[in-house]
Amino acid sequence: MIKDFLKRYWWRYLIGSIFLIVVDVLMILVPRITGLVVDSLRVTPDDLSTVRVLLFGIVGVAFGLFFARFFWRVFIMGAARRFEYFSKEVLFDKLLGLPASYYDRTRVGDLMARFTNDVNAMRMAFGPAIVMLVDGIFLTGITIVAMGSFVNWNLTWIAIAPLPVLTFVSLFFGKMIHRRFRAVQESFSDLTDTAEESIAGIRVVKSYGIEPVRSRMMEDTSNNYVSKNMDLVKVWGMFFPLINSLAMMGTLLAIFFGGRMVILGNITLGEFITFVGYLGMLVWPTMAFGWVVNIIQRGRASYKRLKQIIEEKSDITTPNPVRITKLKGNIVFDNLSFTYPTGKEPALKNVSLRIESGSKVALVGTTGSGKSTIGKLLGRVYPVPEGKIFIDGIDINRLDPQLIRDNFAYVPQETFLFSATVRDNIAFAVNGVDHERVKRYAEIAAVHDDIMGFSKGYDTIVGERGVTLSGGQKQRIAIARALMKESPIVFLDDCLSAVDTETEAKILNSLQNSGQERTIIVISHRLKAVLDSDMIYVMHDGEVVESGKHDDLLKNNGLYKRMYDRQMIEEKLEGE
Ligand SMILES: Nc1ncnc2c1ncn2[C@@H]1O[C@H](COP(=O)(O)OP(=O)(O)OP(=O)(O)O)[C@@H](O)[C@H]1O
Ligand SMILES: [Mg+2]
Repeated sequence: MIKDFLKRYWWRYLIGSIFLIVVDVLMILVPRITGLVVDSLRVTPDDLSTVRVLLFGIVGVAFGLFFARFFWRVFIMGAARRFEYFSKEVLFDKLLGLPASYYDRTRVGDLMARFTNDVNAMRMAFGPAIVMLVDGIFLTGITIVAMGSFVNWNLTWIAIAPLPVLTFVSLFFGKMIHRRFRAVQESFSDLTDTAEESIAGIRVVKSYGIEPVRSRMMEDTSNNYVSKNMDLVKVWGMFFPLINSLAMMGTLLAIFFGGRMVILGNITLGEFITFVGYLGMLVWPTMAFGWVVNIIQRGRASYKRLKQIIEEKSDITTPNPVRITKLKGNIVFDNLSFTYPTGKEPALKNVSLRIESGSKVALVGTTGSGKSTIGKLLGRVYPVPEGKIFIDGIDINRLDPQLIRDNFAYVPQETFLFSATVRDNIAFAVNGVDHERVKRYAEIAAVHDDIMGFSKGYDTIVGERGVTLSGGQKQRIAIARALMKESPIVFLDDCLSAVDTETEAKILNSLQNSGQERTIIVISHRLKAVLDSDMIYVMHDGEVVESGKHDDLLKNNGLYKRMYDRQMIEEKLEGE
């Protein structure tokens, strides 16, 4: 990542550094000119022409500084911002490509921290740290040479003796400040989390009457935030006065020894003023060395963490892909047992399924029995051993994940809508929005009438930043989205749970009769909605315990019959 970046942008650093050095050279002139002005005043008080020339010199230097400072900032800080952009892009693309199992074992909060804090720490190393380093080395070097050659070498060594202490002080304080700053940041995110959670969950808070509890929690986190900030303020409060006093030590030495030299006539008053000016200029760069060390250390630590993500390998590979573009949807599971990479117990045990293309199959059973897992494995979200899952007779490990996803429409159990219009939410998987098509699938998903009832119809914004939809409306929009793909395999994972049974059956029917041949796999907790399926698999605790058509299963007198009878009784009770 760093190599690619530097290959592309090294010239920005070069140009920026040249401007930095120009700034330093110009800075060196200022005390020198001031000193010359003082001396020329003393020698010939009546003749001001030299003074005038020198004053013009100062104005010239000021202009030069103005431009050079502007440009080093644009080039170097600009490059650092580009690095931020570059690394975020690399990182985000990587994250999009990482498999589901990665997200099972990584917390979203951690990833966000990488995205913000770590990238930021690296930007600091690529911007301010480079500036401080180039500037610090060069400015210190030429200032010392200027002090020695324009004024006096002995005096120079004496006066700069206390300066290295500045570097150590800033190194030490820099670490402490950073630690405390992190604590402030952490307590700030606690604070926002607490506030956000209370407000997002305000209905739960109110219905349980726990406002005082949440309020007290908020008070605690706020207090913590204040005290962490006070810790930080105290170090800052000590840091600058300390730096100042140390710098004063140098000035004191300069005045003591330099003053004597002026009195003895070894150096002129102007030279003495130049000298003190230079000494003041050295404070900043020597302090900066301490900061640079800290920033670079932090940047390296962050880089290590980012590298972990970049080097993360996908566990889904297709070394020997079959070159086809279209699947028909003939699905076979052959005695598959599967344990999640992060799981302990197997989620599926010896599961065998045979799904004919064009048929409608239902997966039913107890909760946690592995139904959704079958859908995820079919979408190649998790790795499976060879010889276990076949689509159209081809081992799934030989089918490119992209090919599968083009041919496989999966509606997850938990619907997720983006903050966009209804239309964009439905059409987001296909290129070019064709309104007629959007409408057709919204009709099949039985949500068109609902959409027409929204204030702006298909242009209504939904999701986090939009109108609040009912659970059933969200589910049906998600179904329309999946149908838009017109893929030969459709997998509906209990995504009609918030819709009444009649509507559920209606949607499934119109889906089947929409003219296109599709393999439809439906997971449902409501047996009545799927009892006309060509095949029903009944699952319990990771196993297929029964399979067959509705009538056969009833005759079987097993789990299916018990579930069915119970649902019938419940329905009757509700009806009364
Ligand atoms: N990402 C995961 N990592 C580890 N274990 C998981 C993961 N997802 C599911 N499981 C476990 O696998 C088992 C089967 O889960 P699955 O989601 O397939 O059940 P399900 O039949 O769809 O249940 P429900 O009807 O409640 O949706 C459960 O024990 C669950 O805890
Ligand atoms: Mg499920």
